[in-house]
Amino acid sequence: MRISVIGCGYLGAVHAASMAHLGHEVVGIDVDERKIALLSSGQAPFFEPGLPDVLASSIASGRLRFTTDFAAAADADVHFVAVGTPQVADGDAADMRYVDAAFSTLLKHAKPGDVLVGKSTVPVGTAARLAEQVESTVPGATLAWNPEFLREGFAVKDTIAPDRLVYGVPAGEAGERAARILDEVYASAVATGTPVIVTDYATAELVKVSANAFLATKISFINAMAEIAEATGADVTQLADAIGHDARIGRRFLNAGVGFGGGCLPKDIRAFSARARELGKGEALAFLTEVDKINLRRRERVVELVREEVGDLEGARVAMLGLAFKPHSDDIRDSPALDVAMRLAEARAVVTATDPEALESAAGKAPQLTYAASAEEAVRDADVVVLLTEWPQFTGLDPAAIGELVARRSIIDGRNCLDPAAWRDAGWTYRGLGR
Ligand code: UDX
Repeated sequence: MRISVIGCGYLGAVHAASMAHLGHEVVGIDVDERKIALLSSGQAPFFEPGLPDVLASSIASGRLRFTTDFAAAADADVHFVAVGTPQVADGDAADMRYVDAAFSTLLKHAKPGDVLVGKSTVPVGTAARLAEQVESTVPGATLAWNPEFLREGFAVKDTIAPDRLVYGVPAGEAGERAARILDEVYASAVATGTPVIVTDYATAELVKVSANAFLATKISFINAMAEIAEATGADVTQLADAIGHDARIGRRFLNAGVGFGGGCLPKDIRAFSARARELGKGEALAFLTEVDKINLRRRERVVELVREEVGDLEGARVAMLGLAFKPHSDDIRDSPALDVAMRLAEARAVVTATDPEALESAAGKAPQLTYAASAEEAVRDADVVVLLTEWPQFTGLDPAAIGELVARRSIIDGRNCLDPAAWRDAGWTYRGLGR
């Protein structure tokens, strides 16, 4: 099929490359010339395992190209809009500027029969509004809403072989045709039995935000248990293992620690709450405000633990292992690790931070920190080591060897990912969260 992808950020670049990998003819379009130049040369503008390979092979096959010229969309029959919906500067809501601009420009190049597919995470009601614009501007074109659920670090796999496909389409023949076309786009996943849910616009939009709200709630639930465990001497990791054995609960996303960050969960739960308030249903999602608060309290708790370990933060040498919001990513958007590092620096601690992939992006945002190329370099003469992103490079550290480099053997495990006994046996003071 001939496909255009509008917006080549995390979502769009992966989607464009993956669609070409599946055999479609794809053009990726973005206003950012630097991004387009990089992608055209087969380089990913961000760290995402597997993406460079898929980009290179798809470009070499001639099925994938990138451009800043919106008119290139005219050659395609299916158009995916994958631009960002960041949090607005002065509130909780999603900033819809980029989605609205993308559709307005796309409609100048779309033709009757085309299917325009929204992939961005949007406030419920957006698709219905945009569908009116599509119908009045290009009669005979159809809007579908097809949310993505990709996880950074597994984005290519999640796109090529998703857990499920959701198509929000209008009732009637146009909607049925749009669903058939999406089945063709995702033919390889459909053929392997991937569940396909064909539904209305509002349900499709809500599937995405409610999935993220559920995941955020699950993490904050276990972090709330961590707070109680801290007050009672219980161990939240064993608690999670024990309740996780109940298949109705499940162990995944029950890792207590410094909490969730990234470009999706924090802003999506805030935007969802804001939308509920607009709908007069704020009470229904009031719990998400607590979910957000529990999450942010964990960051403050790590700062407190550091203070307890060093006495006075001013002048204390803190080695920070991790800056990305999670391992296998260079993304520092709303990263708990970077946030804690900045809070410590604000309190005049001397923070030396390292991360296998996120050094460059972190240095751009937080020039006040000192950066080191490796864990060994970061921990040299440290009064306390703080692990906040569970990269294998950090979880595999040898406590005895690392102990030779620090000023004091004190470690705060902000992801509960180390073996406390192994570190204590090597003479370390080990502090986890909720254990
Ligand atoms: C998330 C959703 O998982 C994905 O489906 C959606 O499309 C986009 O948002 P992502 O942001 O890539 O994906 O990260 P995810 O793996 O969900 O982790 C989010 C955050 O939660 C990370 O900061 C992670 O460290 C944290 N987390 C995750 C926990 O603190 N505990 C857990 O048990 C799991």
